[in-house]
Amino acid sequence: MKKKILVTGGCGFIGSHTITLLLKIGFQIVVIDSNINSSIKVLDKIKFIAGKYENNPVDNLNFYKGDLRDFNFLDSVFKKENQKDEQIIFVIHFAGLKSVSDSNNLPINYWDNNIFGTINLIKIMEKYNCRSIIFSSSATVYDSKEISIFKEIDSTYPLNPYGNTKLAIEKMLKDVFESSSSKWKIACLRYFNPVGAHRSGLLGEDPKGTPNNIFPILNNVAAGCEKKFKVFGGDWETEDGTCIRDYIHVLDLAEGHLKILEHLLNGPAKFLIMNIGTGKGTSVLQLIKTFEEVNDLKIPFIITKRRKGDRGVIIADNKLSKEMLNWVPKMTLQDMCRDAWKWKKLNPKGY
Ligand code: UD1
Repeated sequence: MKKKILVTGGCGFIGSHTITLLLKIGFQIVVIDSNINSSIKVLDKIKFIAGKYENNPVDNLNFYKGDLRDFNFLDSVFKKENQKDEQIIFVIHFAGLKSVSDSNNLPINYWDNNIFGTINLIKIMEKYNCRSIIFSSSATVYDSKEISIFKEIDSTYPLNPYGNTKLAIEKMLKDVFESSSSKWKIACLRYFNPVGAHRSGLLGEDPKGTPNNIFPILNNVAAGCEKKFKVFGGDWETEDGTCIRDYIHVLDLAEGHLKILEHLLNGPAKFLIMNIGTGKGTSVLQLIKTFEEVNDLKIPFIITKRRKGDRGVIIADNKLSKEMLNWVPKMTLQDMCRDAWKWKKLNPKGY
């Protein structure tokens, strides 16, 4: 019997890449997505990629368009999918709003979407006896004022409503676990900076509206849609004066989900928080240089003032994921730059 997994936000950047790997292994996938921030076309791309796998799992993907805040909708999905002796046994919860700047402007939208969506999800999981979940959290929850390499036990202090909702959900899940700890298996994954794209060039990061994150902006400059890349600050306390981040290829991140999924499926009840990053830092200037070299192009740039609320150095301590999962991300910065640009070249307007 195939194991059935619900993926919320499965049409998004990380969700879509993770689904391709889950299908390859032979899981049955149920996707819920409201598509307010993603494209339904992603599903065809996933199916195209999966169609090339030996097990040809294209029929193992069911999609439901809807909002997690709609309890009746969630109930109908679980009711339908839990027929035929095939229960949803695990949830990977990617769905949520994720723009820092939007969250500053519209905090209630973030609390409403991210928190109520997750509360409903947990309620429905209880109702249908499904008590295993991976939650997409973020390194943004850390208190990054003084430290630059973060361990899971380090203190938290998000600087924006988006980060506050991520931390609140982590705490909520901990409470749920504590209330009946023999039943739940819960992992909160704190992602560092997921970038890159699927090697095929069929899946990638497709932000709606003006992009804020570095890779979509680099792609726009490389494509000539924007004249110059603005480096936010050249006066940070780093070797070249620009910010350092821990960039991780989205396919490595997807693989990290598989590892944690196996770990939870085969292990006892537990609650854990885990960083998912490479443990390596790259400055903005190093990134621009690599992007130029790998893709044989020029990124004109200027150094401007610091972005409000930015941090100098943010790197994962990934000892826990290494030890517990016996896993390390494998892809290089070159892979990330090459795949991100391939996605942009093949899909200049996104999906
Ligand atoms: C941002 C979010 C964070 C989120 C993460 C991953 C902020 C303050 N934080 O983090 O909550 O979890 O994305 O999606 O928005 N940069 C430039 N020029 C640009 C754009 C970026 O120099 O035009 C630099 C930034 O200063 C930073 C690095 O590139 O050093 C990465 O920026 P970005 O992709 O926005 O990620 P984070 O700031 O790490």
